[in-house]
Amino acid sequence: MESNAGDDDTSKNLNDFEKANLDEAQESRLLGGRKEKYVDLGRKICVTILVVAFIVGLITFIIQIDPNNQSDSCHDNDGLVVSIIRKVMPRKQPQPDKYTQALRKALMFFNAQRSGPLPKHNNVSWRGDSGMKDGFIGQNLVGGFCDGGDAIKFNFPQSFAMTMLSWSVIEYSGKYKAAGELNHVKEIIKWGTDYLLKTFDSSADTIDRIYAQVGTGDTSGWTGKIDTPNDRYCWMRPEDMDYPRDVHECHRCSDLAAEMAAALASASIVFKDNKKYSKKLVHGAETLYQFARDKRGRYSADITDASIFYNSTSYWDEFIWGATWLFYATGNTSYLERATS
Ligand SMILES: *[C@@H]1O[C@H](CO)[C@@H](O)[C@H](O)[C@H]1NC(C)=O
Ligand SMILES: *[C@@H]1O[C@H](CO)[C@@H](O)[C@H](O)[C@H]1NC(C)=O
Ligand SMILES: *[C@@H]1O[C@H](CO)[C@@H](O)[C@H](O)[C@H]1NC(C)=O
Repeated sequence: MESNAGDDDTSKNLNDFEKANLDEAQESRLLGGRKEKYVDLGRKICVTILVVAFIVGLITFIIQIDPNNQSDSCHDNDGLVVSIIRKVMPRKQPQPDKYTQALRKALMFFNAQRSGPLPKHNNVSWRGDSGMKDGFIGQNLVGGFCDGGDAIKFNFPQSFAMTMLSWSVIEYSGKYKAAGELNHVKEIIKWGTDYLLKTFDSSADTIDRIYAQVGTGDTSGWTGKIDTPNDRYCWMRPEDMDYPRDVHECHRCSDLAAEMAAALASASIVFKDNKKYSKKLVHGAETLYQFARDKRGRYSADITDASIFYNSTSYWDEFIWGATWLFYATGNTSYLERATS
């Protein structure tokens, strides 16, 4: 009923408009090749048919692009109006140059490696939520990035990766912006630093441990029976893991703590406009660095499983790396001295 009323109104309006003098030229342009039919059927009927046809066409069009009909779409979050504009506007965007394409694809690697509850716009169609029970009672370790072909979460390589991404944003944010990827890369860094902040008591001023790894990869003791599944002899999609995953912690891990300090300190520069978050990152970095200095040791001596994959031989290089980023983040010259003396 409602839509009938709408049709009538529209045709009435058109008729009024018409009466208010459409000249011959305008009429033939509006009605195109149908002018003869129009003459045969009479103005009123023909205009009504055109209006009805237009509305039916519009409805069909809207149903066809209904976001609910395309759950795999990259544009799930876009409103209907944006979708219509996308469909209607000719897409004449020039192909981005090869470096921009390579940059996009490189960043998509991190989207694909995400662990935890994925944002809607993650735009990797074959990935879903995973590791939703990582951690243990009182220690939520959901999130972060899977390492490589397996789903273990190692803090050490994650920290280095986040530091490198932050450094690239600090140096080249203009280029990221021009490529339309600045928000994307910042989102990836925050995904990493949010996770790193969960792996130690980031609100405390002093700490005595880091939850440095989730999941186990050592298969040397495997008996051939899958009684305690681990990430490598029970290799599966992260989305399908349904067994509890080990959490490995370290208590003397100068190399790891200073590496994490570098990641948080560099990210604090990337997020300097978000004062609260930036401050939180700096505080975490300083706490980690102090822990690194106070409790000397190699993290992979504490965590034998990590020594198989990312063994560390000393922590002096991380002391310099962490102190350098802390100096950039805080301007505190005592870190500069640590890095240079
Ligand atoms: C994926 O989504 C991000 C936004 O999170 C966007 O910047 C990026 O261009 C998208 N990549 C592709 C290949 O769709
Ligand atoms: C790890 O490095 C230490 C120190 O260099 C070394 O003693 C140890 O054998 C290494 N472990 C592995 C599994 O390579
Ligand atoms: C600089 O950092 C050191 C720790 O290395 C700290 O003791 C000192 O209070 C800091 N100085 C300022 C001005 O924040």
